[in-house]
Amino acid sequence: MIDPFGRHISYLRVSVTDRCDFRCTYCMAEDTTFLPKADLLSLEELDRLCSAFVAKGVKKLRLTGGEPLVRKNLMWLVDRLGRHLKTGALEELTMTTNGSQLARYTADLAAAGIRRINVSLDTLDPAKFRAITRRGDLDQVLTGIAAASAAGMKVKINAVALRGENEDEIEDLLLWAHGEGMDLTLIETMPMGEIAHRAEQYLPLSLVRARLARRFTLTDLPDRTGGPARYVRIEETGGRLGFITPLTHNFCESCNRVRLTCTGTLYMCLGQDDAADLRAVLRSSTDDKPLLDAIESAIARKPKGHDFIIDRRRPAPAVARTMSLTGG
Ligand code: 5AD
Ligand code: SF4
Repeated sequence: MIDPFGRHISYLRVSVTDRCDFRCTYCMAEDTTFLPKADLLSLEELDRLCSAFVAKGVKKLRLTGGEPLVRKNLMWLVDRLGRHLKTGALEELTMTTNGSQLARYTADLAAAGIRRINVSLDTLDPAKFRAITRRGDLDQVLTGIAAASAAGMKVKINAVALRGENEDEIEDLLLWAHGEGMDLTLIETMPMGEIAHRAEQYLPLSLVRARLARRFTLTDLPDRTGGPARYVRIEETGGRLGFITPLTHNFCESCNRVRLTCTGTLYMCLGQDDAADLRAVLRSSTDDKPLLDAIESAIARKPKGHDFIIDRRRPAPAVARTMSLTGG
């Protein structure tokens, strides 16, 4: 699939649930109301939709949420999608998780062919971890990470840079992740969803990078992922550090992805509202042709890019939906 700007769309991110067992302050409100379960696609429908994308040329599929591992019976879907790896139609199946349930599912994930996994972790301080996630247990996440590594999965840590919260801990996170043989990617907060104190939490990564450069030697690496992250090697540790800077750096020109929500809505861009309702098409026929056509015409509308901006004078978010709905 090629979009109007000549970008090859080969990467699908699928949010399998909007629910999460955490309530990270930058992501959702304490009293978030989740979608009624009846609105969700069944696991069979998710399988059919994902398989249609694979038929259209998607080579990489990432399961996200919310927290994907809180979706009941998710291992059935993971196992089903694993069949596309075996045929070679799909090159990679991955997941982004908060790690809370990871230890329990590591063996199943590995058996389905998942080789790489992203774990979101913003701090190594148990009290801070609880404050940022509002309910998470750091030890449980660390146990999950250890289990995944022991099972041979490559783990990447994603940390959102938060002013005044984990700002002074980024070097520690880096040394810890690289010490464990894991890459670390830092993410700037994105204006998604109505969240209090967004502007106060925003920490530009240009600043973080400048601070790190006082202590470490950062060597730019060529971008090979087609994704938004810019990578450097930290010469002192030998590890990789990524920066995702939607606000200070525009990454849209190399965008190769689209995002599917758990209700079957396809968002062609993380930062724009235009979407295609694939659930209606899916349910209108058991024949896949209309679905494949709907995917095709949605890709033909993929916008050039987002216009994220965090402005103290303009507190409204760029898009009303939170990351937990669209998938990070
Ligand atoms: N801005 C930046 N990152 C976010 N995440 C969730 N909400 C936001 C936001 N508004 C992160 C999570 C996770 C990834 C999926 O996205 O912490 O690392
Ligand atoms: Fe859950 Fe991830 Fe949102 Fe945190 S950022 S509340 S772990 S979906």
